[in-house]
Amino acid sequence: MAGAVTPGAGAAPEPGRGRPAVAAARHDAFTTTSSRGLNHDLPPMRLYHKAKKFGTWDPRAIDLSQDREDWNLLNDAQKDALLRLVSLFAAGEESVTLDLLPLIMVIAREGRLEEEMFLTTFLWEEAKHTEFMRRFLDEVAGVSGADLHHYHTPSYRKIFYEELPRAMNRLLEDPSPAAQAEASVTYNLIVEGVLAETGYYAFYRTLQRQGVMPGFIQGIRNFQRDESRHLAYGVFLLQRLVAADDAIWQVIDRRLNDLLPYALGVTHEIYAAYGDQHPFEVDQKEFIDYAIKQFSLRAQRIEQARGKSLAEVYRLAADHVEEATGAAEEPAAGAGPGGLAAGGGGSGA
Ligand SMILES: [Fe+2]
Ligand SMILES: [Fe+2]
Repeated sequence: MAGAVTPGAGAAPEPGRGRPAVAAARHDAFTTTSSRGLNHDLPPMRLYHKAKKFGTWDPRAIDLSQDREDWNLLNDAQKDALLRLVSLFAAGEESVTLDLLPLIMVIAREGRLEEEMFLTTFLWEEAKHTEFMRRFLDEVAGVSGADLHHYHTPSYRKIFYEELPRAMNRLLEDPSPAAQAEASVTYNLIVEGVLAETGYYAFYRTLQRQGVMPGFIQGIRNFQRDESRHLAYGVFLLQRLVAADDAIWQVIDRRLNDLLPYALGVTHEIYAAYGDQHPFEVDQKEFIDYAIKQFSLRAQRIEQARGKSLAEVYRLAADHVEEATGAAEEPAAGAGPGGLAAGGGGSGA
C-alpha cells in the first residue's frame, strides 16, 4: 500500500509552477540540490523503480526456436492471421516509439523531474517492443524483405498514421493541459489501453490456447508487464490534469468517444478479412467486449479524480501503482482467457 504522499517542499520551484512552456534558456535551481530533493513517493517515481526491476528483459535473449517450428505447422490462413496481427503490433510499437518524445519534452520543460525519469524507461521499453516484433517477422515468420503495409486497414491507419502522430506532435507547438490530455488519451488510453491490451488478449487466446509459440508468448508477457506501467502513468497524468482543472474531463471524454469507434474498428476489420470464420476460431464479440471493458475501467479511474486535490490524486494513483503493476508482474502461468481477462482487466489503468 501507499505510504504518506506529500508533494515535496523546498527551495526548488514546484514542478509545473512558473515554468515556461517553451524550452528554458537557463536553469535557476535544481531539484536534486534543493531542500525538496527527489520525491520517491510520487506515483511516477514508484513506476520508475518498478521499471528498473521488471523492465530489464532483453528481446534478443528469448529463445524462438520452438516458435519457428510451430509456425511451419500453422495452415496458410492461420499464418496470415498471425502475420496480420504482428504487422499491426510492429508498426504500432514503432509508432509509439517515434511519437512519445514531444510528451517527454513537455514534462521536462515543466520541470517534473520524477515524471521524466520514469518516461526514460517508458521510451526504452517501447524501443524493445519494436525490436521484438520485428524479430518475430524476421526469425519466426521469415518475411524479411516483404512489404506488410496492406495489413493496415482504414481504422488502423486513422489511429496510427494520423491521430497518434498529430496529437503527440501538436505538443511541440501547444503544450497546454488540453493538448496534453488529448495526447495522453490517444496514446495511453486508446493505443495502449484498448488496442495493445486487446492484442495481447488475442495472442494468448489464439497461440497460448493451442500451446504453440512459447517464446513469443513469453515476449508478450513481458510487453504486458511493461505496458501496465505505461498505462498507470497515463492514467496518473490524466488524473493530475483533471484535478488541476475540471474542464479537462470534458476534453478527455470527448476524445475517448471520438476515437473509440476507430479502436473497435480495428477489431472489426481484422475479422472482416476472414469472412465469418476466423482462422483461430475465436469469436469477435469476445474481443469487442474485452476492449470495451478496458476502456470503461480507465475512464472510471480518471473520472474519480474530479474535484480531488493534487495530494488526493497522488494518493489514489500511488495505491493504484502498487495494485496494478503488482498484478501484472506475475501473469498466471498458462492463463486461459478467464485468467488473462482477470489479470489484464485489473492491470494497467
Ligand atoms: Fe509497447
Ligand atoms: Fe507502452
